[in-house]
Amino acid sequence: MKFCTDEVTGVRVYGRNVVVRARQVLDTMPQCALLPFVFFSVSIACSYFEIMSEGLFAKLPFDRYSSFLVTDTISQSSTPAMWFFNRKGPSGFSGASTAEEVTAGVDGRGLVAVITGASSGIGLETARVLALRSVHVVMAVRKVAAGLKASEAIRAEIAGAKVHVLELDLSSMDSVRRFASEFDSLNLPLNILINNAGILAKNCTRSIDGLELHFATNHIGHFLLTNLLLENMKNASRESGVEGRIINVSSSGHIMTYPEGICFDKVKDPSRFWTYIAYGQSKLANILHSIELARILKCDQGDDVNILTNAIHPGVVGTNLFKHRASANAVVNSIGRIVRKTVEQGAATTCYVALHPQVTRISGKYFSNCNLETPSSQASNSELAKKLWEFSTKEKEENDDDIDQEDVLVEEMDE
Ligand SMILES: NC(=O)c1ccc[n+]([C@@H]2O[C@H](COP(=O)([O-])OP(=O)(O)OC[C@H]3O[C@@H](n4cnc5c(N)ncnc54)[C@H](OP(=O)(O)O)[C@@H]3O)[C@@H](O)[C@H]2O)c1
Repeated sequence: MKFCTDEVTGVRVYGRNVVVRARQVLDTMPQCALLPFVFFSVSIACSYFEIMSEGLFAKLPFDRYSSFLVTDTISQSSTPAMWFFNRKGPSGFSGASTAEEVTAGVDGRGLVAVITGASSGIGLETARVLALRSVHVVMAVRKVAAGLKASEAIRAEIAGAKVHVLELDLSSMDSVRRFASEFDSLNLPLNILINNAGILAKNCTRSIDGLELHFATNHIGHFLLTNLLLENMKNASRESGVEGRIINVSSSGHIMTYPEGICFDKVKDPSRFWTYIAYGQSKLANILHSIELARILKCDQGDDVNILTNAIHPGVVGTNLFKHRASANAVVNSIGRIVRKTVEQGAATTCYVALHPQVTRISGKYFSNCNLETPSSQASNSELAKKLWEFSTKEKEENDDDIDQEDVLVEEMDE
């Protein structure tokens, strides 16, 4: 291979093609796709700095996790990690408030909540605090053994806690339907639905239904679940007069997506995605789902039905979310330590929006640090929200058709 000099940069490279190819790739990438590179570089620099300074960070007043592979136990940390983000907002709470603090004095007796991804991290802490406020909690979990262990820990801590565990794999529409029918068979009203589960996968693969895995798990699974449980929520609101609440756990990472927001034509082709962008896209979908549902509910529901739907960002929290991504783990573990919340703080915004009386009549909004916040312009785009709703409805209907055909086949075989 020969040296040659690039005409524009004057850089001597092995083969001219290297520079030309690099330029082509950069030209076709959205600018926001460079953010992970920036984060990664900063992270490496911080890790290097930390090693060189012989653990300077350990001497500063941040709480320190030796590892983010948090086990499925309750109360994963007790020392507040935040110290300069504790300025209170109009709600009277801040990023340093914990889930217990923001729900102090709230009586959740008579309420039933479904929480997805409740066997670990933010979902587990949300389940624990809702149970502490006497809410009947249904933990919707992918790994039933982990869910049962977590529910036992909640019962051991909170005398009289009402906790159920049901299996749910959001990446499969069939599993979502099974969960909804099992929940129906419990004959419980539903007042609160917390769409919390989420993945940041190792690679962009395809779900069992043929969709990019982040989009399938983080958005479509929750879209279908909400759709299947909505009638129950409407009835519960009508009969009890208590307002229902749907919370979509999104992320500030929703800004890290494609310029057009959601790439509808690519969600069936995972090879066209990059993991962080796929995650950002799915988190944008969580907010758009919430604002369109709020609009539809406002138009549809009569005076006797009252259901609020909001999206939230929990903050940067050391959980299992980053276990597949060494670079993200490195960022949260190094520079992220400065802004990182404990799990108790990370569950605060969800619990605030789910239970606090201040949120009454607020719908279609985005919360962070237990206060209202403005999301990106894409996340406020009502046209994009409508388009996503139509797309997701079509996916759901195609799955309805598949199930109808399967039923016909089974009937024919029985005859
Ligand atoms: N941690 C952060 O810094 C941060 C920041 C912004 C937003 N969030 C959001 O917060 C939410 C909770 O995440 P976390 O930080 O608490 O992470 P976590 O500890 O990994 O919790 C995620 C939960 O989702 C479950 N889950 C994953 N795939 C699932 C599937 N196909 N079906 C059902 N459940 C599934 C996981 O179950 P398994 O144990 O079976 O995998 C786990 O219980 C996510 O939506 C995440 O996007 C987190």
